[in-house]
Amino acid sequence: NWSLNYFIEEKIEEIRNEINDKKAIIALSGGVDSSVATVLVHKAIGKNLKAVFVNHGLLRLNEEIEVKKIFNDLIGINLTVIDAKKRFLDKLKNIIDPEKKRKIIGEEFIRVFEEVSKNNYDYLIQGTIYSDVIESAASGKNTAKIKSHHNVGGLPEDIEFKIIEPLKYLFKDEVRKIGEILGIPKHILYRHPFPGPGLAIRIIGEITEEKLNILKKADHIFIETLKKNNWYDKVWQAFTVLTPIKTVGVVGDERNYDYVLAIRSVNSVEGMTANWSKIPFEILEEASTRITNEVKGIGRIVYDITSKPPATIEWE
Ligand code: XMP
Repeated sequence: NWSLNYFIEEKIEEIRNEINDKKAIIALSGGVDSSVATVLVHKAIGKNLKAVFVNHGLLRLNEEIEVKKIFNDLIGINLTVIDAKKRFLDKLKNIIDPEKKRKIIGEEFIRVFEEVSKNNYDYLIQGTIYSDVIESAASGKNTAKIKSHHNVGGLPEDIEFKIIEPLKYLFKDEVRKIGEILGIPKHILYRHPFPGPGLAIRIIGEITEEKLNILKKADHIFIETLKKNNWYDKVWQAFTVLTPIKTVGVVGDERNYDYVLAIRSVNSVEGMTANWSKIPFEILEEASTRITNEVKGIGRIVYDITSKPPATIEWE
């Protein structure tokens, strides 16, 4: 692919010239965008890039182990892992407003970085892509901002780094192709997008450790079920949402009172608009049966059949 090869070469050159012998730091989330940005900038400046993986505790099941393995073993980039789970959860205590959650997480992220970098890094690399820019900028006179995607909108103003966003004008499919050219494993590149604030915006209302554990397990089972039935690659994004609603159920001959979990899956090209996925009932049934059997705390499961618009992909 000539034009993408050209883009890569040009970008590497440009980044190398700009950063020169200074140092840069990147927040690697393990998602497509930050993974591609990491490898690209690593090609440009090598050891002068420090890749940091912040475990904010709002990640999918076993995420930190997987990401570490991929970058250390496969790509040969030494990854610094920071366990900041407690910090984030403390800050998020009693917070129910989605935009507040995003703001807190975005700010805390930067604070963690400032601590890690101890003023030794001049540049912050971000994996912002074009759709992030558009969605976050949708704030004209009469249009309310939709959501502040935190790798753009939620940054604090007293930020200490110069920011480089090498993928800013690219679409997701281009980012994936660049990742392939750079040799990043396909199972990383073709993963569903995962929001920066993570499970914080998939737990409606207050975030607690108990709820996080419930959601992680349920989400893992749903994704496993999709993969097993060859549906994972047919959808843009699939996940589960833990609602604060409890409903009555019956287990054996006992009354049960547990949370409602929502399953969400959408088809989309860029995430700007989306249609709910017509997953076969048998697969939904398999997921529902497994989740209610295996995850304590969930008593009822519903499937979200709204498209975007009017709904957004995430519930918060
Ligand atoms: P929505 O919910 O706005 O989602 O229809 C569109 C796409 O963006 C992701 N998303 C986020 N990504 N920070 C992110 O990095 C965020 O705050 C955020 N909110 C939504 C969402 O997962 C979907 O892919």
